[in-house]
Amino acid sequence: MKTFMIPDESPLRMEDYSHTPVTVSGKRAIVVGGTSGIGQALALGLAADGADVIATSRSEDKVDETATLLEDRGAETARITCDVTDRDSLELVRERAEELFGGVDIVVASQGAISRETVLGVDDDDWEFVTDVALDGVRRVTQTFAPAMAEDGGGSIINISSLSARLSMANLPAYSAAKGGVEAFTRASAKELAPDVRVNAIAPGFFITPQNADTYAEGTEKRARIDKRTPLGRVGEREELIGAAIYLSSDAASFVTGEVLTVDGGFATSAL
Ligand SMILES: NC(=O)c1ccc[n+]([C@@H]2O[C@H](COP(=O)([O-])OP(=O)(O)OC[C@H]3O[C@@H](n4cnc5c(N)ncnc54)[C@H](OP(=O)(O)O)[C@@H]3O)[C@@H](O)[C@H]2O)c1
Repeated sequence: MKTFMIPDESPLRMEDYSHTPVTVSGKRAIVVGGTSGIGQALALGLAADGADVIATSRSEDKVDETATLLEDRGAETARITCDVTDRDSLELVRERAEELFGGVDIVVASQGAISRETVLGVDDDDWEFVTDVALDGVRRVTQTFAPAMAEDGGGSIINISSLSARLSMANLPAYSAAKGGVEAFTRASAKELAPDVRVNAIAPGFFITPQNADTYAEGTEKRARIDKRTPLGRVGEREELIGAAIYLSSDAASFVTGEVLTVDGGFATSAL
């Protein structure tokens, strides 16, 4: 029986309208790009809700710092680096998780790469750098973890997309194309990996992280335009993405796959 099928004896089949709790307590998670910004907030949020979490990225220092924060929240973890452009390094993370946890239930792909260029000016190196990390990186993460998750009874993958998959933003052609690809790849993966592995994406709006701290700093013209167009009137706090990730990776989302959940204060719904 697959994890995400509702068994005959499940309380969900009873007519008391009880629902599966929205929690990841007891689950085992990997957050790739989980040592800074959004990925780190998601890693710590999953841990605070009771998951064991490995947060991995290229930098040993960041991995170590985040592992200490995870341990502070009671999670079992491991200190292991990876680079999503290097398939072998992802394989080592999978093996480490297997040794430590006995398997993986949740994988979040939150690694980031950005390059600000025009459509006509972006060169092959910039294009390949961004798409290799942001799009091909998501493919490698899925290919590394999904087969073992499926064999182990099922799991949930969450790919971090962006509003730029749908809305044109100046000087981000490679990033936008990569994120459009991430959403299409999420749907393709959801179809192919069902019913064992559910695959969804989160599309964050504007959140201040090391990637964009200068561009969207308070007092800049860009920040004022974002705040004005956003119905909720402000940028997001990283912690405001945790609930979305917990929901999508919990058994409460057992019938949700191929979806992109936007968390943007309403920005994408607002014209002027
Ligand atoms: N911030 C926003 O407003 C916003 C909005 C929409 C979408 N997003 C998306 O959210 C995700 C996280 O962005 P962020 O703003 O949190 O950026 P961030 O703070 O710069 O974090 C990026 C993370 O990715 C890791 N990373 C970078 N290259 C990697 C590689 N080749 N292999 C493995 N890990 C790698 C970094 O660690 P190392 O340097 O140690 O590798 C870091 O942990 C990205 O996918 C981004 O596109 C962000």
